[in-house]
Amino acid sequence: MSIPPRFLDDIRNRLTLSEIIGRRISVKRAGRESKACCPFHNEKSPSFTINDDKQFYHCFGCGAHGDVIGFVMQHDNVSFVDAVEMLAADAGLTMPKPDPMAAKKAEKQRGLHDLMDEATSWMQEQAKKPQNNDILAYLEQRGMDADIRSGFRLGYAPADGQALRKAMLAKGFSDTQMLEVGILKKSQKGGDPYVFFRDRVMFPVSDRRGRVVAYGGRVLPEHIRPLDPNSDYKPAKYINSSDTPLFDKGQMLYAESFARQAAREGHTVIVTEGYMDVIACHKAGFKGAVAPMGTALTEEQILSLWQMIPPEANRGEKSPILCFDGDSAGRAAAGRACQRILPLIKPDQSARFAFLPDGEDPDSLIRGQGANAFKSFLQAALTLFDFIWASHTAGRTFETPEQRAGLEKALYDDVAKIQDTNIQRHYKNLVRDKISETFFRRNVGGGNPNAIRPKMKKPNARPNVIKLRKPQRGNHEIKHRILLAAVINYPQIYETIEESFGEFDIANPTLAKIRQSIIITLSENPDLDFDALQSYFVDQGLGKEIRDICCESVYVHAAFCRPVKRGESEEDIDYGDIAQKWLALRESMKSGMIDEEIRDGWKQAMQSASQDEEAKLSNMIKNRGSDD
Ligand code: UTP
Ligand code: MN
Repeated sequence: MSIPPRFLDDIRNRLTLSEIIGRRISVKRAGRESKACCPFHNEKSPSFTINDDKQFYHCFGCGAHGDVIGFVMQHDNVSFVDAVEMLAADAGLTMPKPDPMAAKKAEKQRGLHDLMDEATSWMQEQAKKPQNNDILAYLEQRGMDADIRSGFRLGYAPADGQALRKAMLAKGFSDTQMLEVGILKKSQKGGDPYVFFRDRVMFPVSDRRGRVVAYGGRVLPEHIRPLDPNSDYKPAKYINSSDTPLFDKGQMLYAESFARQAAREGHTVIVTEGYMDVIACHKAGFKGAVAPMGTALTEEQILSLWQMIPPEANRGEKSPILCFDGDSAGRAAAGRACQRILPLIKPDQSARFAFLPDGEDPDSLIRGQGANAFKSFLQAALTLFDFIWASHTAGRTFETPEQRAGLEKALYDDVAKIQDTNIQRHYKNLVRDKISETFFRRNVGGGNPNAIRPKMKKPNARPNVIKLRKPQRGNHEIKHRILLAAVINYPQIYETIEESFGEFDIANPTLAKIRQSIIITLSENPDLDFDALQSYFVDQGLGKEIRDICCESVYVHAAFCRPVKRGESEEDIDYGDIAQKWLALRESMKSGMIDEEIRDGWKQAMQSASQDEEAKLSNMIKNRGSDD
């Protein structure tokens, strides 16, 4: 039976939440909020809070959260309708008469949900059949083991365009229903409707409540289904369900129900590009991963990212991390996402931007280099402000007043898109300070504006909670990459840094291997220059690994390791200076200091001004000393 939302609001408004809860467990009043020992998990000190104004309860211990109806359902273990009936009686309200139309609609929806559930189970079964062994092997090979397959309900849609239809007809579902949820398409030639997803690996898409409402289907890889050499036809890599009564693509995110749960447990919400990425992230413990389905992030999706994060996470700061490929297409996509987000930001509600090495997605990065490598890129994510600054400054110089004014205009134009007036004011201040700091080299407003940032809770043992801007001690992967990139781009500094180069631990085996190679090569041939060293690595089959180190996503974190631009004179290179910066960075790893300033390497773009800043930076690092 469906109950009108207004009736539910009446119930909530007439009843006092703490009173209803107080009839069931012992509640202590403390101002507007009341506290209790949580009835949903075992605890001795009360972390269960009740807010009567906001009409919800929340447990900081286990994340239990809800309104008066949810509480009664969970506490008394009764159905929704029963809970509403009980509370309506408490509130002195009579239950509304059943609305036949609404009831019919609910009935119909239930039928469609059942259909999706059955179709999903059927496709799961297909993947287990002996004749589809090669498909199962492919899933295994891509890391989708039995647990993942059943958790994500992965399946296989056979090539036969009638098989699923027949199976569902046999279960009593109709063609009309199947057309409605998009698993069948009408035949153009007037024949039987046929199945939309054929010969594909199936990724069921669930709604917030975990009910399957749509699918993404991936073509089989070429080693299983070679393309016809006589035909130009190339199927789309992925196809997705179109919008249906159950599914609105722009509103939903893949794996949203898992991520919502994970966010409640303290995981960072991470937005990736695709199905495979989400699954790889989950497998590696990044359980807050979601993805849009083949489209750019919509406004609704951004809002739902913020909704997923419970109010107490990160002391109220909601800042999901958006992952992008470090290449120019990735930057452009990040720029578009940023433009969508700007009008929507609110106090404590923002986003961060992580850039992976060129050509890598989270799946390939985790597979190739491990979860820690991925984590280090997440930890190095730029704040929204830093990203805006970077997107207007990277790779450009600002020597003339016109150029500087142009930059200023571009920044203020972006700031003008922020609707929240308070935030807009802070952004304006920050733009002004950063511009003066960069061009006039003085400290405005008592220091580095970047220094004002949210304090984080103490590092804790929870997995894959990405700390805002504070890399965990000991996880220095980004720095390792910078140190390697500098030596590869400037082998001339090797002599100076040789002693320190071999003496720190590198956890990532690929990076460790490269270092070993560098040591062997440069010790034997100290005069190798950049080109010679490069061709040596390519000969060794390490070309790709080197490209992952010597790439924009590393350079953005430290200007000094960036190679000279083509056409720039090598004679002007100050190798002594690069070596000093190298050593300073190495020192900073010993002290485990927070490398906010180092990290902010987009500054390199401000070439004329940045040299000055770099000097400041290396001095600062030198003065910090080591505590190891
Ligand atoms: P990618 O082409 O990057 O694929 O598309 P992928 O996720 O890395 O998959 P693998 O690793 O090659 O198997 C990223 C996402 O873009 C959407 C899908 O949602 C996909 O997961 N997409 C891509 C489409 O919707 N249609 C396409 O034809 C391609
Ligand atoms: Mn991929």
